[in-house]
This record gives sequence, C-alpha cells and structure tokens, in this order.
Amino acid sequence: GKGNHRHFMEKELHEHPAVLGDTLRQYLDPGTQAVRLPRLPFDPAAVPRLTISACGSAFLAGLVGRYWIEQLARLPVDADVASEFRYRNPPLPSGGAAILVSQSGETADTMAALRLLKEGGQRVLSVVNVPESSMARESDAAVLTVAGPEIGVASTKAFTAQLAVMACLAIGIGRARGHVSAADEAKLTAALLQVPSHAAEILARDAEIQALAVEVAKARDVLFLGRGSLFPIALEGALKLKEISYIHAEGYAAGEMKHGPIALIDSNVPVIALCPSGPLFEKTASNLQEAAARGGRIMAFTDEEGAGPLSRFAERVIALPRVGAFSTPILHAIPVQLLAYHVAVLKGTDVDQPRNLAKSVTVE
Ligand code: F6R
Repeated sequence: GKGNHRHFMEKELHEHPAVLGDTLRQYLDPGTQAVRLPRLPFDPAAVPRLTISACGSAFLAGLVGRYWIEQLARLPVDADVASEFRYRNPPLPSGGAAILVSQSGETADTMAALRLLKEGGQRVLSVVNVPESSMARESDAAVLTVAGPEIGVASTKAFTAQLAVMACLAIGIGRARGHVSAADEAKLTAALLQVPSHAAEILARDAEIQALAVEVAKARDVLFLGRGSLFPIALEGALKLKEISYIHAEGYAAGEMKHGPIALIDSNVPVIALCPSGPLFEKTASNLQEAAARGGRIMAFTDEEGAGPLSRFAERVIALPRVGAFSTPILHAIPVQLLAYHVAVLKGTDVDQPRNLAKSVTVE
C-alpha cells in the first residue's frame, strides 16, 4: 500500500535514500572503498566502443552513463533511444558491447534493440529492476537496480537506482581500462556512498520545492536547462513534468539556448536551471544570465557555493548539499522529480496513473 502517503509516487520519492543505499552497497564495498561488480559479459579493457540504448527515463539514465563512462573510462559511447537505434542500422564494431537500461525489463523497443545488438555480435549487459524479466533473461548478463517494485507510472526511484548502477559501472570500467586509479576509485566510492544521506536532506527540504511548484503550476511552458551530465537531468525534469502535470516542458543543453529556444523566453516561462558549482558553473550561469536579461524567470538548483552568484539574477535559488561533480546528476534528479510531483498535485491530475501512459510499454 501507500502507507501514509497520498500517492505511490510520493511514497516512492521518499524511498530514494533507502533505494540508493541498497543499490550502491550492492556494487560498492564501503570497507575497501572499491567497486564490486558482477562479472561483465565483455572485457572493458579490450572493448572498442559501447552502445547504450533504452527508452524514456531509462534512456536518460543511460545518457548520464555515457558522460560518466566517456569521462572516467575514456571509452567511446554511442547512446540512442531504442526506437531510433533499431531502425538506424548503425554499423556495430566487432568485439563491441552494449548496455541496455530498463526498469521493467519488458519494454518492446528496448527488447528489439537487444536482439539487434546480439545479432550484430555485441555482448549485451542489461541494467534492470526486475530480475526475472525478458531483458534479464536474454542479455549476456544483467546488473540489477535494487529499487523494489515501482507502482507509480512515472519512474522515480528506479531512475536514480539506474544512475547509481551506471556510476558504479563507469568507475569499474574506468578502473579496468587504467584511467581510474585506486585512489580515484576510493574517492569516487566514498562520494557515492554519501549520496543516500544527501538524498534524505533534499527530501527534508520539501517545503522549498512545494513553494517553487506553486510558481511552476501557473505556467503554460517550462524550460529545464543543464550542461554536461546535468543535461540529461534537465531532460528528465521536463519529461516528468509533461507526463504527470501535462504542462508543456522542454529540456535543453544550456549552451544550446542561444541557438533557438531563447526566442521562447519571456516572463511567463519559468526556466528551471540545474547549475551546481564546479567546472561547468561559469558557462551555465552565463547562459542563465542571458535568459534573465530577456525577462526569463530563473529558478535555479545549485549548492551553497553556486547560490551567491546565481542569486544576483535568479528569482529563486535552491541550494542543495555540495557534492563532487560526479554525484550531481543523481542528487539533482530528486528535486526535479519532486517538483513534477507537487505541480501535478496542485493541478489535480491522476499522479500515479497519468492519462495515455502505461507502466510498461510492451507494444512497439
Ligand atoms: C518516465 C517513464 C518512462 C519509462 C520508459 C522505459 O517517467 O517511466 O519513460 O522510463 O517507458 O520503461 P522501462 O524502464 O521499463 O524500460
């Protein structure tokens, strides 16, 4: 049941700390501060390229994985939604491998991509939440997210658990390829193991996000902006808002704004910015400032360090706990999901069963 929660989605949002803890402890050893992955179906040191494919939110988790794997493991990654990948007829490298991501393990397009990849001689690893699913069975190996059953149609805890697994895979693959040292592995592991308690801190700040939701619920259109590994989280924020509140939302790479979407900016369009301090902060902040200069209402998620500079032009600044750049996509996913939830509640929509959507899309 929902316990004392109004919706399954709310209950599942509040399971983030537990689910992240369970998933991370499955693949990280807190004692040795090392990654502890099941045997991969490919040799990470020998594989020439990786294909990542999935649908919807699961694809966005894969997209964050691409940023992490390319960065930490220096392994080229191709990422595409399964419904495009399967018809693109992409050349697949000999000795190549793929990672498919799915909560249900039954999504028809992702299953079709799996079969195509196997026919193309790729070794396939799936990241799934349902151990007895078709995808887990047909892949060469499966890594499980430890999210438990997810009832709300809009993915929440399964998404962040997918991110947690992708993070562990990126460290492990980076280590195997010699681009992550033992010291780096320990540092990254320690940082990830703090994510569950930071997630709890964010959930405790619900009131701030509810106040932001009141503003967002009045809008007809909303933009989400992020750079680097926060770009897929901007896409996730927009997807979740569309799905459950039926408000039109778009996610963009912050640097792409000036190439078109900035034409949409006026005082009626809230701009939700994901802008943690770190190497990409200055560039993102300057994109936001451009939007603010055109009347855009900037609502920024950042951390204590980013809050100062952003509050010079942003209408609202929410300072999340300060974490290393590596963990920021996981932590920023939580408030954007929470925001979508509160906006949907204000709009009075059917949060757990949004119109036209099914939990598992088993038709192509
Ligand atoms: C978004 C959402 C969907 C799913 C997508 C893939 O909130 O839930 O976009 O992520 O349908 O489903 P799975 O992960 O079961 O393959």
